[in-house]
Amino acid sequence: MANIRFDRVSKRFGNQQSAAVHDLNLEIHDKELLTLVGPSGCGKSTTLNMLAGLEDPSEGLISIDDRVVNDVPPGARDIAMVFQSYALYPHMTVRQNIGFGLEVRGVKKDEIARRVNEAAQLLDIGPLLDRRPKELSGGQRQRVALGRAITRDPKVFLLDEPLSNLDAQLRAQMRAELRLLFRRIEGTVVYVTHDQAEAMTLSDRLVVMRHGIVQQVGTPLEVYNNPVNLFVGKFLGSPSMSVISGTAGVRNGDAVIETVGGALAITRDMVSTSALTADRSLTIGIRPEDILIAPGHGDGLHATVEVIESMGSVNVVYARLGAERVAVTTPPTFTATFDDPVTLTFDPGKTLLFDPQTENRVA
Ligand SMILES: Nc1ncnc2c1ncn2[C@@H]1O[C@H](COP(=O)(O)OP(=O)(O)O)[C@@H](O)[C@H]1O
Ligand SMILES: [Mg+2]
Repeated sequence: MANIRFDRVSKRFGNQQSAAVHDLNLEIHDKELLTLVGPSGCGKSTTLNMLAGLEDPSEGLISIDDRVVNDVPPGARDIAMVFQSYALYPHMTVRQNIGFGLEVRGVKKDEIARRVNEAAQLLDIGPLLDRRPKELSGGQRQRVALGRAITRDPKVFLLDEPLSNLDAQLRAQMRAELRLLFRRIEGTVVYVTHDQAEAMTLSDRLVVMRHGIVQQVGTPLEVYNNPVNLFVGKFLGSPSMSVISGTAGVRNGDAVIETVGGALAITRDMVSTSALTADRSLTIGIRPEDILIAPGHGDGLHATVEVIESMGSVNVVYARLGAERVAVTTPPTFTATFDDPVTLTFDPGKTLLFDPQTENRVA
C-alpha cells in the first residue's frame, strides 16, 4: 500500500522570484504509475526530490499512506530512487551493486542472494552479475540501477529521467519493458520525464507541468484529447498540434471561424459553449491526424504544400496557411510538391478552440 499526497506544496530556492514548484495539490494512487512531464526546468525533479526527502518543501504537506512525511528523513520513507546518471559503484560487480543497499541494511547474505537473483531474472541481466559497470552498455547499466531499486522492495519507486542517456531505439524498447516490469511488481511509481512520448506510453496518469505549476492531470488520452490550454495541447503529440488564428462569425446563418484560408464551419456542440460571440478572435488547435488533405482548392481551407516528410508508414505534410504552418499526417501514398494547392478539412469533433490572450481552451 502506498498512496501519496501533496497538499499545497511549494518550493522556493534562495531568494528566486518565482517558485520552482508552486501550490502543488496532487494525489497519487496506490500501485499507480504517475508521470510528471514538462519542459526542462518546470519543477519535475524538485517535486520528486521533495517526495524523496532530498529537498524540504517551503510550504505545504507531503503524505505517504496518510502520514505526513515532511520531517521523516529520506532513509525512513521506504522509497527507492533511480536517476538518469545510474550512480553505480564502479569498483563493485553488478551483483554487489544490486545487493549493496540490502547489505547496508543488515539483510542476511542468503536473503540478499535470493533477492539479487530474482531481480536479475526480472531484468534479464543474470549473465552480467559478475561484470563491473564499465563492462556494460548504457541500457545494461540502467537495468542494474533498476535492479538495485527493485531488490529493496520499497513502497514507492521514484524515477527521474531514467532513459534519457539511452539512444532512441533502446529508449523505446526500455519504456515498454518498464511498463511490464512495474505492472509485475505492482509498486507505486512516480516517473519524471521531459519526453512526451514516454509519458504518453508509460503512464496510468500524467501531470503536465509548466513553470512550477500543474497545468493538467489525467490519463494520457484524456489530456491528449482534451487539453485545458494551448501549452498542454502543443506539448503532447508529435508532430505537434497545429495552431491557426481566426475570428468567429456567421455565414448563411451558420457559425463559422474565418481564417486566412477560408471559413471553417463550426458544429452545434462547439457553439453551445457560448464562446463564439461574433468578431471574437480565436485560436484553432488541430492535430495532424484530424485533418484531411486533398489536392487542389475545393471546399475547405485553402493552403499550399511546403514540405512532405516520408516516415515510411505515414507521410507528414506541412502546408502553409497564410503565415501559419499546419502539419497533416497522410497515408504514404499521398504525394505533392512544393507550392501545390491543397484543401484542408478538419474533423469538427476534434477541432479545439482557445482564447488567444489567455491561451485557455474555450471549446
Ligand atoms: N538546488 C537548486 N538551487 C536553485 N535553484 C534550483 C535548484 N534546483 C532546481 N532549481 C531551479 O528550480 C527550477 C525547477 O528545476 P527542476 O525541478 O530541476 O526542473 P526539471 O526537473 O523539471 O527540469 C528551475 O528553475 C531550476 O533552475
Ligand atoms: Mg529534472
